[in-house]
Amino acid sequence: MKRILLLGGASELGLAIVAELLQTDKSPTAVLLAGRPSSAHREQALAQVRQAGAVRVGWLDFDAEAVDDHQRVLDAAFRERVDVAIVAFGILGDRQTWRDHEATLRLVRTNYVGAVSVGVLLAQRLAAQGGGQLVALSSMAGERVRRTNLVYGSTKAGMDGFYLQLGVELADAGVQVLVVRPGLAVGRMTAGRRRKPLSTTPEQVARATVRALAAGRPKVRVPAAFNVISVIFRNLPAAVANRLPF
Ligand SMILES: NC(=O)c1ccc[n+]([C@@H]2O[C@H](COP(=O)([O-])OP(=O)(O)OC[C@H]3O[C@@H](n4cnc5c(N)ncnc54)[C@H](OP(=O)(O)O)[C@@H]3O)[C@@H](O)[C@H]2O)c1
Repeated sequence: MKRILLLGGASELGLAIVAELLQTDKSPTAVLLAGRPSSAHREQALAQVRQAGAVRVGWLDFDAEAVDDHQRVLDAAFRERVDVAIVAFGILGDRQTWRDHEATLRLVRTNYVGAVSVGVLLAQRLAAQGGGQLVALSSMAGERVRRTNLVYGSTKAGMDGFYLQLGVELADAGVQVLVVRPGLAVGRMTAGRRRKPLSTTPEQVARATVRALAAGRPKVRVPAAFNVISVIFRNLPAAVANRLPF
């Protein structure tokens, strides 16, 4: 039986990827959702995965900020082989986050420190079991940090670079790492935000992720139009980029 581990067990994007994996690969699959026991979306997430066709679904208590507990969480998850691990937890913040020291550190601890902490532990375990796939949810926001996403963008830039290079380190161990960079995806995290022309959906992100995994790619932007736009955007002179309203 295959096993999928979703860290950020109630993440909409993470759950959509799990559903897409279940639909694409019809072999019997067990899914372990790892998230905060306090998550308001836990029962819904468990039901969603059952409905998507998982033969076994479990919940593991996990807090990205509680790095001292991550060894225990990963030991529990890897009691059996894990075929696909998805790092999907994260918080967004807003343009004003940097003015709040506590909120800034919480975002950094969750999106960067937490992501790197589980990243190294997953890497060790996937390599030790002889292979597997590791998906990390980064963001287009990390490609160039902007005035509206100063803290969030910087955490995604950091974790994105970490996972990309981790993939290089792990290639010889048979572990494939895929970094996923969605633009704004319509859902809970972005509720209330203005839809942008290149907005995407959890289902589109999931389809692109599973296709990129099958193709063995190290990273994927969603939607694909960002492949061209990001070249321009990353090369904009600072004087222009800093005046952009988004
Ligand atoms: N949605 C977008 O537009 C978008 C775009 C680009 C990248 N991303 C990235 O994609 C990932 C998934 O986003 P999403 O849209 O699926 O968001 P989501 O539905 O809000 O899911 C985020 C999940 O992260 C969990 N989480 C937050 N802090 C945590 C912590 N300390 N410990 C454990 N879990 C924690 C939340 O848990 P609770 O259920 O307990 O709150 C929630 O289930 C994130 O890394 C996000 O930055 C999202």
